[in-house]
Amino acid sequence: MKQPKRYTVTSALPYANGPLHIGHIAGAYLPADIFVRYLRQKGEEVLYICGSDEHGAAITLRAKKENTTPKAIVDQYHELNKKVFSDFGIAFDHYDRTSSELHHQTAAEFFKKLDQEGKFIKQSSEQFYDAEHEQFLADRYVTGTCPKCNSEKAYGDQCESCGSSLNPNELINPISTLSGKAPEKRTTSHWYLPMQDYENWLKEWIVDGHKSDWKSNVYGQCKSWLDSGLQPRAMTRDLDWGVKVPVEGGEGKVLYVWLDAPIGYISATKKWAQENNKNWEDYWKSEETELIHFIGKDNIVFHCIIFPILLKAHGNYILPANIPANEFLNLEGDKISTSRNHAVWLHEYLEDFPDKQDELRYVLCSIAPESKDSEFTWKDYQARVNNELVAILGNFINRTLVLTQKYYDGVVPSSGENLHNEEQLNAEINIAIEKIETSIKQYRFRDALSNMMNIARIGNKYLADTEPWKLQKASPDQVETILHFSLQIAAKLSVVMQPFLPYTACKLMGLLNADDPLYDKVNEFELISSGHKINRPTLLFNKIEDEMVDKQINKLDVNQDETVEDVKLKPEISFDDFTKLDIRTGKILTAEKVEKADKLLKLSVDLGFETRTIVSGIAQHYKPEAIIGKTVTVLLNLQPRKIRGVESKGMILMAEDEKLIFVSPEDSVALGSSVS
Ligand code: 2FM
Ligand code: ZN
Repeated sequence: MKQPKRYTVTSALPYANGPLHIGHIAGAYLPADIFVRYLRQKGEEVLYICGSDEHGAAITLRAKKENTTPKAIVDQYHELNKKVFSDFGIAFDHYDRTSSELHHQTAAEFFKKLDQEGKFIKQSSEQFYDAEHEQFLADRYVTGTCPKCNSEKAYGDQCESCGSSLNPNELINPISTLSGKAPEKRTTSHWYLPMQDYENWLKEWIVDGHKSDWKSNVYGQCKSWLDSGLQPRAMTRDLDWGVKVPVEGGEGKVLYVWLDAPIGYISATKKWAQENNKNWEDYWKSEETELIHFIGKDNIVFHCIIFPILLKAHGNYILPANIPANEFLNLEGDKISTSRNHAVWLHEYLEDFPDKQDELRYVLCSIAPESKDSEFTWKDYQARVNNELVAILGNFINRTLVLTQKYYDGVVPSSGENLHNEEQLNAEINIAIEKIETSIKQYRFRDALSNMMNIARIGNKYLADTEPWKLQKASPDQVETILHFSLQIAAKLSVVMQPFLPYTACKLMGLLNADDPLYDKVNEFELISSGHKINRPTLLFNKIEDEMVDKQINKLDVNQDETVEDVKLKPEISFDDFTKLDIRTGKILTAEKVEKADKLLKLSVDLGFETRTIVSGIAQHYKPEAIIGKTVTVLLNLQPRKIRGVESKGMILMAEDEKLIFVSPEDSVALGSSVS
């Protein structure tokens, strides 16, 4: 492949409706930052763009809940998130926001051109409508039971419990989050992108063209979408917060995120170009530019299929050369959940661990979910910092600097003859450097990082094998050679660690009293010459103590913000409504797992007068054998439902507090006793 003249690199625009957590940076920002920093070191021309996505139903929903305006919410989080990124060293060239006038104008023009050229079809469909609030409901505004896992808290676009993408019509018992009532269906019309018209082109471009250079998780997801056939997708929504649909009939409608957010990359480039006296089109319309999108797996289809269709339909734009999406990062055995506060918030980390940005960057890169979901735990964080950063990298640098200070008053000694295979070790280090470069270019940042650490390991082993601290009296010449060479390794490390650990690289260069050494020099044997004075050593890393991580573990899942107002009560019902419920006591006779359903148990429940089969979503909380004989409370007259092929007649009542807990009578009662 020919070498591009420049790179346009983007990271998914995060929604400005909440703070950032570790899952965000592990997914789309840290890998992009490493990539971009590496390219810059090599002297490549690269533009790294991002910004806040300030539109979308979740933002209006939060504003409604908090009795404020969407603008107030996005103003707050745009500033917070921008600062947090910068504090973590995520080195965007420009961080914009989609509420800007330039963005609204750019997105509206993009839409208008496609509309004028007949690239959309206008279609009517029935959508959920909240009669009390007199508005159509965005997918996020509808909640209900997930048809895939039975969780009762699924949203119209996604179930956070099982991760499935949904459309609101699939929800069982849909409820409007505005009024708490079942919504009606009403007809509305929208602009649809006829994705099926691009199917053959996409197959050629992705399935045939990118089999070997796109990551397999990305390629696989695209292929399965294309194999199951594309459908028209609505590009507009009934909402009043966002980029207004700029054509006739567009009143009360805005562009959907699929059209709005990625155009944010373009408008941010325009803004940057204005401020830096550049031509934005060079970054989006030149065949000499390579466009790369860093995203999380939830945005794969959006960036690999929908956005490229839009770019192609518009014409003149280049297509992304690669979309190295990451999978998800889990936390302490569970999915990250912002609503349950099962998250490590970056702004809190910065407060609790001042000046330890690189420690988190290191751990998150080491465990990045590059090909499958991975997991962050605080104990693992502690172990990686203590056993790797402190014991290997920090230890090697510290021993080298302290001995140089002690024996030579901080002046780099001259190198004698090649005593301990230094030439060969230098060659090994250069191979590791080459591996770092190849891995970064292939978006394998974990491998790249582990090769960086291998250089520190080589250095550590060299010191352990040569033991200069024992030779100072007997063979001072040898010690000179050993420390001269160790200092060269330290200098090489200060260069190659920069994309991963920018703060540490800067600190180490300060300790070595080195100018920003050119990457071109990194393979040479000597980066700093004898006679050069280095600075007094200080430690690069400190150990993480048990109390520090214990405190973090205790912080998880404690919902600090929950106030009484946050509890969403269901609407009142009449006493008559209540008496319609037939609730009785029963006893679990048998329990078994439902095949291919992680959450379901099939129970037979003795009600005294009959035994019923009930499917209950409790398998992740109880083992079947542990609940046999348990007295439970059952809602009997719930309409029977077939769940995974099993007819379920009733529902076991459970109290939910993270875990599901049986609601059982305190004293023994006859089976079938009614509960009221
Ligand atoms: O999923 C999201 O986080 C949205 N804010 C869209 C991000 S991708 C985009 F910017 F194109
Ligand atoms: Zn689900």
